[in-house]
Amino acid sequence: MYKIVTKRILNPTVVLMDIEAPLIAKKAEPGQFIILRVDSEGERIPLTIADFDREKGTVTIIFQVVGKTTKALSLLNENDAICDFVGPLGVASHVEGLKRVAVVGGGVGSAIAYPIAKKLHQLGAKVDVIIGFRNKDLVILEDEFKAVSDNLFVMTDDGSHGEKGLVTQALENQIKLGNEYDEVITIGPLIMMKFVCEVTKRYNIKTTVSMNPIMIDGTGMCGGCRLTVGGETKFACVDGPDFDGHLVDFDEAIARSSTYKEFEEHALNHYCN
Ligand code: FES
Repeated sequence: MYKIVTKRILNPTVVLMDIEAPLIAKKAEPGQFIILRVDSEGERIPLTIADFDREKGTVTIIFQVVGKTTKALSLLNENDAICDFVGPLGVASHVEGLKRVAVVGGGVGSAIAYPIAKKLHQLGAKVDVIIGFRNKDLVILEDEFKAVSDNLFVMTDDGSHGEKGLVTQALENQIKLGNEYDEVITIGPLIMMKFVCEVTKRYNIKTTVSMNPIMIDGTGMCGGCRLTVGGETKFACVDGPDFDGHLVDFDEAIARSSTYKEFEEHALNHYCN
């Protein structure tokens, strides 16, 4: 069993938990993920590692309450325990050697962007962070990003915090101002990553996206997480989750992401009632 050491509500639907998992904390790197089961009857869900503390032996997860499992997880409290917590899985983000990077996060995806920005900052890269949310109540990790970025741009759809507009506009503005990024790293909703890639393609800037498709085993056996990248089938759990965004078939990934929507809604309603 894996103890919940800390629980913090980041916004009305997003929760942070530090989980006691020393063996995973020892090996974890930014970009990797874990798979957990809340209890022995539960489904397996992948969550990207949002942070880790090797000394304390904890791994931080940040999740949005979107379905039955995340709802059940959100109802647990400090000192409660999670049944299974497996990882670190996936290939760590390649950040070595980068000098000038824009990290673009959207919604809860910003939580996943954070450890990557932090690592880049620790390695001495100049990091611009652009994070976007629907409104000010949904903004997360602003102080944390401030501490690890050279420039932080917070965008909201309604202008209630930071600047009004989309992350793609902020990114394009920075590119037009003459910022020559070695790479753009983007994590968030599929549709946001697709449009970030369309901007960077125009300026020929290498772009890495972090894909989070449906996963089951997380070890390359079931094929549930398959994606088409550069015309080839790839498994996000073992080949990713990071991929060259200019090669990802986003339309297919978007269509596949809603395959079980009806079942997911039914399970949540059944659980809540
Ligand atoms: Fe089964 Fe990736 S989750 S192959």
